[in-house]
Amino acid sequence: MGQMGAALSAEAITAALRTRWVGRPTVFRGTTGSTQDELKHLAGQGATEGTLVIADEQLCGRGRMGRKWVAPARSSLLFSLLFRPTFLPPNCAHRVTMVCALAIADAVYEVTGLRPDLKWPNDVLLRDKKLAGILTEVEVSQENKIVWVIVGVGLNVNVDFSQLPELRGVAISLSEAIGRPIVRLPLLTALLSHVERRYEALRAGHNPLSEWAAHLLPLGREVTVVASEGTFSGFAESVDETGALLLRLPDGRTIPILAGDVLLHREAPEQENEGVK
Ligand code: BTN
Repeated sequence: MGQMGAALSAEAITAALRTRWVGRPTVFRGTTGSTQDELKHLAGQGATEGTLVIADEQLCGRGRMGRKWVAPARSSLLFSLLFRPTFLPPNCAHRVTMVCALAIADAVYEVTGLRPDLKWPNDVLLRDKKLAGILTEVEVSQENKIVWVIVGVGLNVNVDFSQLPELRGVAISLSEAIGRPIVRLPLLTALLSHVERRYEALRAGHNPLSEWAAHLLPLGREVTVVASEGTFSGFAESVDETGALLLRLPDGRTIPILAGDVLLHREAPEQENEGVK
């Protein structure tokens, strides 16, 4: 089966789902531009919470910070999920991302026995390499209420990164980690079940922050963070209530970083702390 794997279909997914509302309905595309863009369009037309858009291939897959998300056809799980968490204030929308990151880790463990790490802010790692990326987008009304949260997931299932030189060394797939191909459908249905369970706990008032932080790299490590405010090196102490990374700088100050890319210490570039004011 190798990198290609079996094709998914809306019928196969719907028949296999064990959820009540996540993945109902499912919109499946053999090829699309971006599941994220398709779902945004559907959300604007009133699509209901739980709507899933999933594709075997994306021509314009998007990552965080304007990057591309590249995955060979049928090699991955590429999907976007629609939530309408009107019970959350907009500054807590990141809890939906945490729920999905934890659900990815749950599903990977259930299907492969491997325990991934989470990496601040939004990645899922295996052996310090990227296994999955999450892109969360939020629409807020003029009354400052959440209208929708769309969580896009790219999970490397059967990708052969030896064929993708620009990603070799930084990314890993499940098949590479366990040495055999993985059937995507049971992994997807497990993942969606864990999303539903964890999101319902969130709706009932459970904050996923402490569980998310417990799995989180780089807490307790020396890191360099490339953020829009600048590049900072220091000790990753903890995360605060908003999900911001608290970084202790060499001068003893601790600063919160809301968004950025973490380089674990062994990857740190030469240039450091250029943005510290
Ligand atoms: C990142 O790590 O930068 C986030 C990557 C998110 C990629 C997924 S693939 C499915 C969905 N559609 C997109 O265009 N992007 C997300």
